[in-house]
Amino acid sequence: MKAIVQDRYGPADVLALRDTDRPAAGPGKVLVEVRAAGVDPGVWIFMTGRPYLVRMAIGLRRPTPAVRGRDLAGVVAAVGDGVTGFRPGDEVYGCGESGSYAEFAVARADRLAPKPANLTFAQAAAVPVSAMTALRAVRDAGEVGAGQRVLVIGAGGGVGSFAVQLAKARGAHVTGVCSGAKAGLVRGLGADEVIDRAKDRFDRGPVRYDVIIETAGDHPLATLRRALTPRGILAIVGGSYDRGGLLGGFSRQMFRAPLLSLFVGQRLRSVGAREDAADLRELTALIEAGAVTPAVERTYPLADAPAALRALGHRPAGKLVVTL
Ligand SMILES: NC(=O)c1ccc[n+]([C@@H]2O[C@H](COP(=O)([O-])OP(=O)(O)OC[C@H]3O[C@@H](n4cnc5c(N)ncnc54)[C@H](OP(=O)(O)O)[C@@H]3O)[C@@H](O)[C@H]2O)c1
Repeated sequence: MKAIVQDRYGPADVLALRDTDRPAAGPGKVLVEVRAAGVDPGVWIFMTGRPYLVRMAIGLRRPTPAVRGRDLAGVVAAVGDGVTGFRPGDEVYGCGESGSYAEFAVARADRLAPKPANLTFAQAAAVPVSAMTALRAVRDAGEVGAGQRVLVIGAGGGVGSFAVQLAKARGAHVTGVCSGAKAGLVRGLGADEVIDRAKDRFDRGPVRYDVIIETAGDHPLATLRRALTPRGILAIVGGSYDRGGLLGGFSRQMFRAPLLSLFVGQRLRSVGAREDAADLRELTALIEAGAVTPAVERTYPLADAPAALRALGHRPAGKLVVTL
């Protein structure tokens, strides 16, 4: 089968379209004929092996698996022993295990869900990692409820574009922070107010937010806390993932925020990574109800996956997707 593979860590130039062996569905796993695969910073981190700590998990010299891509949407080709929830021919979406920039990918059955009926494969592939992360930020870490004032930083990005819609779906008053070029997109996603980050600072106005969801910017904790109510919640999704070093920009969310949270009234939380079919099904219900729609800026054919990874560095509006 054709797949985008790499033999060493590095920039998008290390990716190559090659013939590789088709993976097999082992026990509890599903073989999916991939129709579309999402592009997100997690793929970039696995490609570059930066921050370096990630190499402890996926390989010191080269990443395993060699095929890139995580999110997928496609059609079930075969199921392994013990899989009861899926049959060949089912349309599914979720997170692959063997690399989804490929004609076929294997996924754990508990990382897949039926594809939302009202989405194309390309739209569905934009959902899993980004929207599950946004769901955990809004529902779990942020505990967003009706009537709350919520600030989403990076509102025009992959996670932020879902966070805006999920917070609106819970009845919050949402303000999005983004560059001016994305203001129209963010308003269209349902944001009540938009702050153009080149012109205004969210911590300088009179408004204090009950919840801040930070997906970008690496703002100092003091800046973020200044914009929060005294008992407000900060949910840190991520920051600069391309900074290098052992931890990149992650030390703030992994160590400093949780530690400081022990001593202040505000709750400063990190949004952890988790892939879970129950979360996917919750998203499916919201998508099919029309409350959430993926914002896909552009699709790329499989051979152009390296171009998609390069484009990710230029801050796309919403999501990029590789199609097969
Ligand atoms: N915790 C987890 O499980 C998890 C899961 C997925 C992603 N992440 C992390 O979350 C972060 C965001 O991921 P993503 O997929 O949303 O990335 P993305 O699609 O690149 O979106 C980030 C957005 O932030 C905006 N931005 C950039 N610099 C900014 C700044 N200084 N201030 C405010 N906004 C800024 C960018 O647009 P404009 O500059 O045009 O406004 C962009 O739209 C990454 O660090 C990623 O590694 C974490």
